Amino acid sequence: MVTKVLFVCLGNICRSPTAHGIFEAQVKARGLEDRIVVDSAGTASWHAGNPPDARSIQFARQRGYELKHLRARQAIVEDFDEFDIILAMDNSNLSDLRDLCPKHFSGHLGLFLDFAKASESQVPDPYHGGDAGFEQVLDLVEDASEGLLDFILKNNWSK
Ligand code: 4NP
Repeated sequence: MVTKVLFVCLGNICRSPTAHGIFEAQVKARGLEDRIVVDSAGTASWHAGNPPDARSIQFARQRGYELKHLRARQAIVEDFDEFDIILAMDNSNLSDLRDLCPKHFSGHLGLFLDFAKASESQVPDPYHGGDAGFEQVLDLVEDASEGLLDFILKNNWSK
């Protein structure tokens, strides 16, 4: 059984590609790439086809994660047929996804940080801010990725 996970933010160039790269690295480190498939998307189409923001690539690389191969795309209604777990970075992303979500979706749609130990519930948008915002994204994403992987393995999760 394969579990498919989609991470969603606004532009798909900062937060969700960071989650995509880090969670995928954790999946590979545990030899689970045949069981867990990972992708990311944005609620907006502005950056479709673009690689992640240069700052996201740089700060992730400093922690040993490579993001430069990823390309942005917009989330589409068909994603709800394809993916089992769809995780939003903030409440605005979640609200947009709920608007797009078909009634028959039987998977999990929620906030990524529900799986984190940290008390924050949303991954703040780092795009218009400074370096500390990008480091914070990495901290929160590393934390929530561990929790998400444990959850999938414990619950043998698939829709
Ligand atoms: P993301 O960050 O949603 O984490 O990819 C943003 C990227 C671009 C913009 C906003 C947020 N933008 O306004 O272009």
